[in-house]
Amino acid sequence: MTLEKSLLICGDAAKGLDLVPDGSVQTVLTSPPYWSLRDYGTADQIGCSDALQDYVSALVDTFRQVRRTLTSDGTLWLNMGDSYTSGNRRYRAPDRKNPAREMSVRPRTPGGLKPKDLIGVPWLVAHALQADGWWLRSEVIWYKPNAHPESVRDRPTKAHETIFLFSRQQRYHYSISALSGPNGRRLRTVWAINTEPQPNRQNGRVNHPAVMPSALADRCLLLTARRGGVVLDPYAGSGTTLRAARNAGCKWVGIEIKPEYADLIEARMRR
Ligand SMILES: C[S@@+](CC[C@H](N)C(=O)[O-])C[C@H]1O[C@@H](n2cnc3c(N)ncnc32)[C@H](O)[C@@H]1O
Repeated sequence: MTLEKSLLICGDAAKGLDLVPDGSVQTVLTSPPYWSLRDYGTADQIGCSDALQDYVSALVDTFRQVRRTLTSDGTLWLNMGDSYTSGNRRYRAPDRKNPAREMSVRPRTPGGLKPKDLIGVPWLVAHALQADGWWLRSEVIWYKPNAHPESVRDRPTKAHETIFLFSRQQRYHYSISALSGPNGRRLRTVWAINTEPQPNRQNGRVNHPAVMPSALADRCLLLTARRGGVVLDPYAGSGTTLRAARNAGCKWVGIEIKPEYADLIEARMRR
């Protein structure tokens, strides 16, 4: 089924996806809220207070809906950062460098883990999606050369996130010639891309605390989008994926739960 025009839905991804027709989307690029990292201050947001297993299950359910919307050769790029246990602290104090990381509610440390444990959330989600029927085709390491130092003294500063490439079926659309790595070699799985500053606060509009670099979005879409096809982001944030889709000559569907961010997307798409 085809989608006639681009669409911005303000609401919960799990419900908003009902408005997206079966088999209408060529590629999905999304970065859901990471578990226990940030409080977006909205009812029905995921990742802030739910138990880890509930978070994983909620993502599996939502991405099952996403799979329904994909064309038979469609793909999903899923960007996820990892988290440490809270050690059962019930809040996180504001971080001077990143005030949006303040949390008044934090999920409990999952059973079997200890304070300060790195959890491995991206791989828990990846394995759960694989078990639900997705083909897991690649793990890309997004290395951030300009990562800020963390205020910890007993481990290296984290400077990467994971991006998984999933497909709906065994064979799928992937433009190997669209992009090559250094010295013209085949593209490798470690991508060095600087983080970008938040979109400017203008006319009193809100900022978004977790924007994806546009270079990263452009790269994913070059590889798996088709000109004229549809790109979906069910956790659209400030709309980076949607802008990249428009620049690539694609239609786009964005779902974002927070009205202020949906307004921000509208403003950014107008420019
Ligand atoms: C990591 S941000 C996405 C950032 C985006 N990639 C960008 O570059 O701007 C995740 C977004 O998911 C939204 N969100 C949280 N729970 C949601 C839900 N249940 N349905 C839809 N959006 C949700 C948050 O408000 C937040 O804007």
